[in-house]
Amino acid sequence: MSDGSLLTDANLLTDNPALYEARFPDADRLAGRWTEDCLRRYDAGPRLLDMGCGTGRDAAHLHAAGRVVTGADLSEAMLAHARAHHPGPTYVRADLHGFDLGTFDAVVCLDSSLLYCHTNDQLDGFLASCRAALAPGGLLVAEMRNGAYFLGRTDLLDSPKADSFTWQGTVHRSRTTLTVDRTAQLLRRTRVWTADDGSPPVEQRSAWRLLFPQELRHLLAAHGFEVLELHDGPGPRTEPAWREGESPGTTTDADRLHLVARRHTL
Ligand SMILES: C[S@@+](CC[C@H](N)C(=O)[O-])C[C@H]1O[C@@H](n2cnc3c(N)ncnc32)[C@H](O)[C@@H]1O
Repeated sequence: MSDGSLLTDANLLTDNPALYEARFPDADRLAGRWTEDCLRRYDAGPRLLDMGCGTGRDAAHLHAAGRVVTGADLSEAMLAHARAHHPGPTYVRADLHGFDLGTFDAVVCLDSSLLYCHTNDQLDGFLASCRAALAPGGLLVAEMRNGAYFLGRTDLLDSPKADSFTWQGTVHRSRTTLTVDRTAQLLRRTRVWTADDGSPPVEQRSAWRLLFPQELRHLLAAHGFEVLELHDGPGPRTEPAWREGESPGTTTDADRLHLVARRHTL
């Protein structure tokens, strides 16, 4: 690093689940309620897998709604937090690139967790695992960034974004840069953290697959799914956000993508 900061795969937010929840509050459990609304619309059975469950707050909401929930994540820190703070679901460590956790009536994958499938092989692994995990007629519900948003728009890319917050008495400042890697079809994020506690700056890198709506339709069809809904909102992270009783949209132009797909019965 030319500026003397440390480069790390660690992620200050996902490595500190309590901080993650504080930075991305969802006091009204909007994501959980939106998911439950999708599940009810298509009469999903009770057995549910939340892949990339993170802190467990959505899994616990769906458990409280009467579902039998398994929450799965790769991060031990997230799983430990989920078990301690959002009890009810069973929490297990699993990789969304390929998993075998039993049979479910629905798999949900929220807040861009699906986009941690960077390569086509990883996407195929995820969808093949979902198909194998779902009972015939079972649902896949996902919410994520929309790759198509970046076609012709640079508002999220133009300039680094500065942010700061205080956590446990220490002021943390971040400078975030998003770039499009057209070759890998990834949205890459570089975030440099500085803190006022004397620790050296830390540079963290993440990436999400830039998945396009028609590409997703093709992948789902190839893996034996029927697309029931694919739209850009309203949803739990749209502006304005989804409200109880609102119907799904029909366009896929804005920055979030919402998917409901059904596993074919054969
Ligand atoms: C942005 S968070 C979303 C968490 C949660 N679904 C929510 O909506 O709050 C993404 C989650 O995906 C998990 N994750 C990343 N790569 C993964 C992988 N290959 N397999 C399983 N989980 C993964 C991270 O640990 C993190 O908890």
